[in-house]
Amino acid sequence: MNILISPSILSSDFGKLNEEIHSIESYVDMIHMDIMDGHFVPNITFGAPILAKLKSTKPLDVHLMIENPEKYLEDFAKAIDKAHGSRNDCFITIHAEACPNLSHTLRQITEIGCRASVSIKPATSLDTIKSALNELDMVLLMTVNPGFGGQEFMESVLPKIRELRKLAPTLNIEVDGGVNNETAKLAIEAGANVLVSGSFIFGSKDRIAAIKSLRN
Ligand code: DX5
Ligand code: ZN
Repeated sequence: MNILISPSILSSDFGKLNEEIHSIESYVDMIHMDIMDGHFVPNITFGAPILAKLKSTKPLDVHLMIENPEKYLEDFAKAIDKAHGSRNDCFITIHAEACPNLSHTLRQITEIGCRASVSIKPATSLDTIKSALNELDMVLLMTVNPGFGGQEFMESVLPKIRELRKLAPTLNIEVDGGVNNETAKLAIEAGANVLVSGSFIFGSKDRIAAIKSLRN
């Protein structure tokens, strides 16, 4: 499968987000936006009003680490329209742990015209999402406990990537957390095809070289 790179702007300079996006967008496939509410995860980032002020020529990959995501989907979809000009090539990822009725929330994402994706934390079993697999455009397997950039990739998640790839040979499988040139190889070998990477890309002196190294 083609490897897709989705840089997380969580590790970029929040004082100049549009410049940071512009510095890498020609070399990547999507832009990963980490939305945190201080409840689902112990950290707060930004919401739809800030997202609406960003500019990206590449599709957005919006990772909602929030409680009650269904309440905010419409706001995020409108912000995506403003930031990217269209929503039908953009992903909205919700967390299975935050959705009592997962199928319903996924349907809401497709009904508003975005691509539906679900994420699970490292300790959450694939069983939680198995029944929803045919409603999904992507599954995001967290390879750190969500909340912060710069953590270490958890190799204990690799068997879960392998198992999911067996169950869903053509599904987009995204990994997020601690992805660098070394751990990218492990994730790809296990079956992932979409790589989120934050501190490795934005902390590198040569961001373009760092992005290229993830694809090899
Ligand atoms: C963590 C976020 C990740 C994070 C990745 O909760 O979902 O997207 O920004 O950052 P790195 O690549 O530094 O682990
Ligand atoms: Zn993320």
